[in-house]
Amino acid sequence: KEKTPVYRIGFSQCSMSGPWRKAMLTGMERELSFHPEVELHMLDAHDDSQKQQEQIRELVQEGVDLLIVSPYESEPVTPAVEEAYRRGIPVILLDRRTASEQYTAYVGGDNVEVGQTAARYIARLLKQRGNILEILGTPGSSATSERHQGFVQGLSAFPGLHVVAQVTGDWTVRTLKPELTKALQAHPEVTMIFSHNDGMGHGAYEVCQELGLTKQVRIIGVDGLPGADEGLDLVQKNMLHASILYSPGGEEAIRTALKVLKKAPFNKENILGTIVIDSTNVLTLQQQNDKVISQQQDIERQQGLLHRLQQTYASQQVVLNWLLVT
Ligand code: FRU
Repeated sequence: KEKTPVYRIGFSQCSMSGPWRKAMLTGMERELSFHPEVELHMLDAHDDSQKQQEQIRELVQEGVDLLIVSPYESEPVTPAVEEAYRRGIPVILLDRRTASEQYTAYVGGDNVEVGQTAARYIARLLKQRGNILEILGTPGSSATSERHQGFVQGLSAFPGLHVVAQVTGDWTVRTLKPELTKALQAHPEVTMIFSHNDGMGHGAYEVCQELGLTKQVRIIGVDGLPGADEGLDLVQKNMLHASILYSPGGEEAIRTALKVLKKAPFNKENILGTIVIDSTNVLTLQQQNDKVISQQQDIERQQGLLHRLQQTYASQQVVLNWLLVT
């Protein structure tokens, strides 16, 4: 017989495309494996804010005890989040924000800091002089506006650095390449690209390859995920010069959710740290990641063992009861 969960968490995810969002969900599931009393119901909005609003209302109708929301675009998703919040459902914003103060907690990186870090790193690399092309994420996403804002702020300290071109992506390479090709052809003075994520940075590398620019133009991305053709791997292969680490925060979101649900003390702002990943530390990070993966496998093995022991115990209990009654 299925046990009824003690807590139900609704998760409105803006999109499940790409490995970063998958890593977020894997992190949530990993943390939830320690809490069998919690049920998670995720709805994927497929990068559509209208749909995301409907799905948030659907989760509220279902009677979830808490909502985790990673909004596609800030403004359009705000009304549904505010409605839920005003009904007394705690809301945790994950990675991206709404345009409102009405939420219970935020979990994610500081995207302004991500932009500032990129600017400072580029200033050092280019000795404070050079021309930059910026590739932005989806225009309405808070991560886009904050990364851009931080980047502009960071660059303002270096009058010799100029953003001479901007290309708007949608966090993927779906529409990026034709526009980027044109921009790079129109701006042969560009020696640096700041891409709001590694995925678009990867696409930018391919465009540079086609244009014969890989020697002249260096690319910096954001995310720094492990795995083939992801940030760490791209830095290691020198396709990205660097990546600014931006954690998906799945585990932290669940941990914060549980504190809220159990009425334990929690912080409203839970900011995940960031670092620059480049050739000086990429190997160390990859090794650390491999270690985490193998420890995770150990934990899963132990959980399996525990489960089998519990089953053995339960069946022995049955035998024992039977012996006692006969
Ligand atoms: C994934 C993603 C990441 C990025 C984050 C910003 O959907 O685009 O690459 O860091 O979202 O919110």
